[in-house]
Amino acid sequence: MNQYNKQWAKEIKKNDVMYPSEYVIRIFKGTYPRLRLGKNRFKGKKICDIGCGNGRNLMLLRRCGFKVWGVEINKKIAEGVKRNLKSAGIHAHVRVGSNGSLPFLNSYFDYALSWNACYYMGDCADFNDYVKEFARVIKSGGYLIMSIPKKSSFIYKGSETLKAGYKIIRKDPFGVRNGHVLRMFAGEKEIKKTFAPYFKRFVFGSVQDDCFGLNYHWHLVVCQRR
Ligand SMILES: C[S@@+](CC[C@H](N)C(=O)[O-])C[C@H]1O[C@@H](n2cnc3c(N)ncnc32)[C@H](O)[C@@H]1O
Repeated sequence: MNQYNKQWAKEIKKNDVMYPSEYVIRIFKGTYPRLRLGKNRFKGKKICDIGCGNGRNLMLLRRCGFKVWGVEINKKIAEGVKRNLKSAGIHAHVRVGSNGSLPFLNSYFDYALSWNACYYMGDCADFNDYVKEFARVIKSGGYLIMSIPKKSSFIYKGSETLKAGYKIIRKDPFGVRNGHVLRMFAGEKEIKKTFAPYFKRFVFGSVQDDCFGLNYHWHLVVCQRR
């Protein structure tokens, strides 16, 4: 296990809190003018949570009626997710993989979620390869749901530019991401342009939250596989 993988394994083990992200709840359970996810059609549909962390969002997705799969970057994390979900009485398939290499057949999923995870460039030098890999496993007409930090997010404070659109994190207040390369987008227009070869019907949400000194500034993205 490399240093990068070890950091996440340690962080996720520490974080045994199993409540889902507030904005994942909003997207899958809430009603918003521009968001048309067909909430009454989740039952029995296949969803993959790519970079599922401790499995907190899988719990909610299962309760929404989905058949759930999770992916994490190493065996240690994946086994932890399985244990967490088992103790919560949730049945999920958890596999080892990464944004650049997903262990599934083509067009396997109706939905994919990448929550605070698609922009980690751990095993890949080109973000376009991630886009291609996400597209490969999602059926035509299926949905991709993502959260991506804005340029003004706390994550990028004190970071260094590696090349255009790629930042090396130097001052993560949580101490987890230091040294990691992240794909930083200029804004919604660039996100859309990057995913547009494979995805259509983009809708964006925006989180601009100053949460007790933490700039939680995030893009929320929902789009459909062409
Ligand atoms: C900020 S955490 C988010 C976890 C989870 N999605 C959540 O909302 O709780 C980022 C996750 O991405 C995973 N990750 C890091 N690099 C990755 C990669 N190249 N491909 C897929 N997942 C990755 C980490 O192991 C970590 O669990």
